[in-house]
Amino acid sequence: LTLARLNGRHVIVTSGPTHEPIDPVRYIANRSSGSQGAAIAAALRDLGARVSFVTGPASVPPPAGVEVIRVETARQMRDAVEAALPADAAVMAAAVADWRVTNASDSKMKKDGSGRPPALEMSENPDILAWISHLEQDRPRLVVGFAAETNDVLRHATEKRLRKGCDWIVANDVSPETGIMGGQENAVTLISQHGPEEWPRMSKAEVARRLADRIAEEIG
Ligand code: C5P
Repeated sequence: LTLARLNGRHVIVTSGPTHEPIDPVRYIANRSSGSQGAAIAAALRDLGARVSFVTGPASVPPPAGVEVIRVETARQMRDAVEAALPADAAVMAAAVADWRVTNASDSKMKKDGSGRPPALEMSENPDILAWISHLEQDRPRLVVGFAAETNDVLRHATEKRLRKGCDWIVANDVSPETGIMGGQENAVTLISQHGPEEWPRMSKAEVARRLADRIAEEIG
């Protein structure tokens, strides 16, 4: 019985980086491996949830037993999340690129001999977390965001929770010396309406199980 606490519940999980093309062979990306998102999807699946796993080009494989929707760009990710609605909960663990190149070239860019590099024009990508948090129809009952920070983690994450309008923020310090980005472990603080709750450093799988457990308490 305890293992089926999310039976009949639908949860959308975003994961991985996004790739924003510069030309057909080049893109802007980030160092997200997708490990934490994949672990969360697996943990939710283990509690019986139906999981829509919307993933950018991650370096870890998606878990079995979830519906995998592969995307490349932030805009594709937003569209895929929209298509997956309605959902009881949404966990936005993707490291979405903040900007995309608006003058991306249809053909491979070449050096023109002038010594001047091309100027990339950029515009802001949709903020999927803020968008889903402010939906008037179909807003999931529980929206969870992540805040990967390198300084003043708690302050930035608390501000982010209010600014984005999500219910919970999972905050973590991704300074290079923590080894968290791309690593097996994570040290997070869960920020809810009740304030911050610091979890000890543990494996990403354990963070995922604890988070899934809390989600089951909330929407199960
Ligand atoms: O703004 P920032 O990227 O720091 O916020 C992180 C949180 O917002 C994560 O949960 C991430 O998945 C989400 N996000 C998003 N769409 C964006 C940017 C961030 O869903 N364009």
